[in-house]
Amino acid sequence: MILDGKLDASVQAAAAALQNGQLLGLPTETVYGLAADSDNDAAVAQIFAAKGRPANHPLIVHVADAGAITRYAKQVPVFAQQLIDAFWPGPLTLILPRLPQAAKASTGGQDSVGLRCPSHPVAHAVLKACQQLQPPVWGVSAPSANKFGRVSPTTAQHVATEFGDELLVLDGGACEVGIESTIVDCTRGVPVLLRPGSITRDDIQRACGLRPLSKDELPTHTPRASGTLLAHYAPNAKVRLMDAKQLQSALDILGREGKHIAVYHRSPLKCASPAITLRAMPQQALEAARELFGMLRDFDEIGAQLIWIETPPDTPAWEGVRDRLQRAAAAG
Ligand code: TXA
Ligand code: MG
Repeated sequence: MILDGKLDASVQAAAAALQNGQLLGLPTETVYGLAADSDNDAAVAQIFAAKGRPANHPLIVHVADAGAITRYAKQVPVFAQQLIDAFWPGPLTLILPRLPQAAKASTGGQDSVGLRCPSHPVAHAVLKACQQLQPPVWGVSAPSANKFGRVSPTTAQHVATEFGDELLVLDGGACEVGIESTIVDCTRGVPVLLRPGSITRDDIQRACGLRPLSKDELPTHTPRASGTLLAHYAPNAKVRLMDAKQLQSALDILGREGKHIAVYHRSPLKCASPAITLRAMPQQALEAARELFGMLRDFDEIGAQLIWIETPPDTPAWEGVRDRLQRAAAAG
């Protein structure tokens, strides 16, 4: 059932559902989440079951404000605090050392916890209402509201299509950011970028004075991150990434053929086939991110079997979009 997230009654109903151990489709500024009370292990288990997600892939705990950090994290390094000051509320998740009793199922028992304070007004209203309940719900665990490995949802309708009508979904409109939050591991003494997003490496460096390392610059990488698996975000169609030249050659070879092929391009292209679906990718990375997952779903819907995408520029601003596309392509 989809409820209007702007109504206070919907927000209260959503908070009560979470307190009762039910699941909720929750809008955030990045993507829609499949939410449950972080400290209710049975409710959190339902998230894993509904998504078909392995239980050892930890979930992000969403909080109403930075004050709630002390309920989940043992300590906050100085650079992490600088990132919180700069980017919360917003699309940034920090991995911090976990308090032993907090969010056990949600973190798969790992000694760290991922925390994020979303800026979406509906998410914020629900988290605030949860804090005011008796007993309070301090944290809400929410992975993206899609089946494991599939494209993340950016509208309430995407969530309803994926999980059916029994799930309570708050409609908060189309997501502004469109790709999942940037994840920074703050448990290793220096910031480590686990998942790129709309907050870029450059943004992080400006805020805390440290250039974030990449996962592969670390000697060992233990925490699991399904959003960091090589093959993820897969539409039904097979995705291939190409540069502009390769894309043009492929179109030239096809000539007037090309049924069931969709092309998502940045450079001008010549295409002789009326059967091919052509869509132009926005020139700005933030706009491209906003429409990316919806576009992949649209291509599936029109029955495309192949999606050819022009590889975006190799710059920090495009890192999040490139990452999602590379992993959508690896799934094929
Ligand atoms: O934007 C977002 O982050 C969205 C919205 C709903 O907030 N959520 C999201 O959740 O993308 P999910 O579960 O699809 O991705 C969360 C990522 C996973 O890759 C998970 O493994 C990683 O965060 N993660 C969570 N806790 C972690 C931890 N303690 N250590 C390492 N990675 C962690
Ligand atoms: Mg996900």
